[in-house]
Amino acid sequence: MMNKFKDGFLIGAATAAHQVEGNNVNSDCWVMENVPGSIYKEPSLDAADHYNRYEDDIKIMADAGLNAYRFSIEWARIEPAKGRFDENEIEHYKKVLECCYKNNITPIVTLHHFSSPKWLIPEGGWEDEKTIHYFENYCRHVVEKLGDMMPYICTINEANIGIQIKKFMAMAEGSDNLEKDANIQVGLNKDAKVDMKAYYEALGEAFGIDPAKVQPFVAPRTVEGDRIVMRCHERARQVIKNINPDIKVGITLSLVDYHVLPGGERLAAADQDEDFLHYLPYLQDDDFLGVQNYTRQVYGPSGVLRPVGEAKLTKMGYEYYPEALAGVVRFVSKHWNKPIMITENGISTDNDTDRVDFIEHALKGLYQCIEEGIEVIGYMHWSLLDNFEWQLGYEQKFGLIAVDRATQTRYPKRSLRCLGNIGKYGF
Ligand code: BGC
Repeated sequence: MMNKFKDGFLIGAATAAHQVEGNNVNSDCWVMENVPGSIYKEPSLDAADHYNRYEDDIKIMADAGLNAYRFSIEWARIEPAKGRFDENEIEHYKKVLECCYKNNITPIVTLHHFSSPKWLIPEGGWEDEKTIHYFENYCRHVVEKLGDMMPYICTINEANIGIQIKKFMAMAEGSDNLEKDANIQVGLNKDAKVDMKAYYEALGEAFGIDPAKVQPFVAPRTVEGDRIVMRCHERARQVIKNINPDIKVGITLSLVDYHVLPGGERLAAADQDEDFLHYLPYLQDDDFLGVQNYTRQVYGPSGVLRPVGEAKLTKMGYEYYPEALAGVVRFVSKHWNKPIMITENGISTDNDTDRVDFIEHALKGLYQCIEEGIEVIGYMHWSLLDNFEWQLGYEQKFGLIAVDRATQTRYPKRSLRCLGNIGKYGF
């Protein structure tokens, strides 16, 4: 007998504005990509031109059988200068939302996905209390204008990424092979030749501030900065609920599947606390939790082990392990009894057959979790399109749809059909 997700289960794909739209010229990332000595392998330029091609892209999703689309609204477009809101950009996202509805796609909107307006950085960025107020203003503006069209909002994408980067930096100091040691999931340039000092000096000059004060979102976070991010989330949730209590609000966290070998318990517990558990008090009034997972981490007595022997790696360098999704959902569900939405899960590969295999295994595991009674309300594959993988540029291929960037032609992959078919018919 076929196993099929029940009606109403959201099955779709995710993107982030900066990674697909193109020409996000008022953002901090744009500055970071374009300063002399940038550690970004290449600039984003016109990305996948999704800003102009969203109608075609959403239609391709719908034709393949997907019923949900997670995308982000770009703060740097909505508020390109402090306190100046651009109504044309509100109109733009209104059209994107309308397009989703026209295609029977449920929109899941992220209000912040890594990129921020460039004016935020001289204000102190993500280590400054003022950002709570700025973020609140931006969220209020968007939700007042578009809230009625937004059933689900993720306030902040991977709120825990800064803490993970701090861990990664500490690891970098003691590592002779960072490419292998650092199992970090986001697209950071791990090239040892990168001159971070010169880069930060260039950023200081570009933003007109002391290099030590350059605090974008994807950067090592202090304990105080972590608290500020959480207060941004709480404030945003309050604002959203005041405007429209029907909107379901959550945050998203980057989580690995923690495999613990004898002797690794203490280190694994410390990471579980840092990555996840210590956030729980801030999330008690949320409606759902966005879980983002790409791989597992194996903990031994001396720390995280490198993938061993025959282990297959993804193009990002971490272990190919689609079963991680079910593992992390089971772990989360021990501490979280509200709905879980998988807001990202995927693989960078040039071989789409691997992606098909990944999707089938990940979704079978997820289905099993639901059978066990865990409330999972949706699965958003990362990503809809091959896109700009931050510091790693365009070489990484996470998409269900290939993009020829010279012509911006779209080539749907077999994995897109596979995901749609699982949604429609099961497996
Ligand atoms: C981020 C995405 C990124 C993906 C793949 C996640 O950490 O939210 O923006 O592209 O991982 O690395």
